[in-house]
Amino acid sequence: EAVVNIDLEGVEPGSRITLKWKGKPVFIDHRTEERIAQARADDAVPMIDPEPDAERIQRPEWLVVIGVCTHLGCIPLGQNSGDPTGDWNGWFCPCHGSHYDTSGRIRKGPAPRNLDVPPYEFVSDTLVRIG
Ligand code: FES
Repeated sequence: EAVVNIDLEGVEPGSRITLKWKGKPVFIDHRTEERIAQARADDAVPMIDPEPDAERIQRPEWLVVIGVCTHLGCIPLGQNSGDPTGDWNGWFCPCHGSHYDTSGRIRKGPAPRNLDVPPYEFVSDTLVRIG
């Protein structure tokens, strides 16, 4: 569907959910203070695709990204508890070993770009419209 509404009420800090938008997985991470701090602390370090965390989010506690590795399109791991999350505590793509951080930025491996951010807006405190 072109537009998907999702209610984030009940998505606890530290948990991640996946939904489908235009046939692609969208990852939503209710970031903990620790994950937010990790993302911000790394804003200034050299990266493959430099982008400050603040430019990738609308609200610090909610990261919304398209869950498709920018290398060759595999779905990175990290959404389910027990999944590997890579060296930067974000997501890990097992296909060829790309590591994404808590802002969804590519930090190591063959992926050329950060995970894409879909168009979205908060309609209310907990309701998000994607698309
Ligand atoms: Fe993810 Fe190649 S598709 S690392």
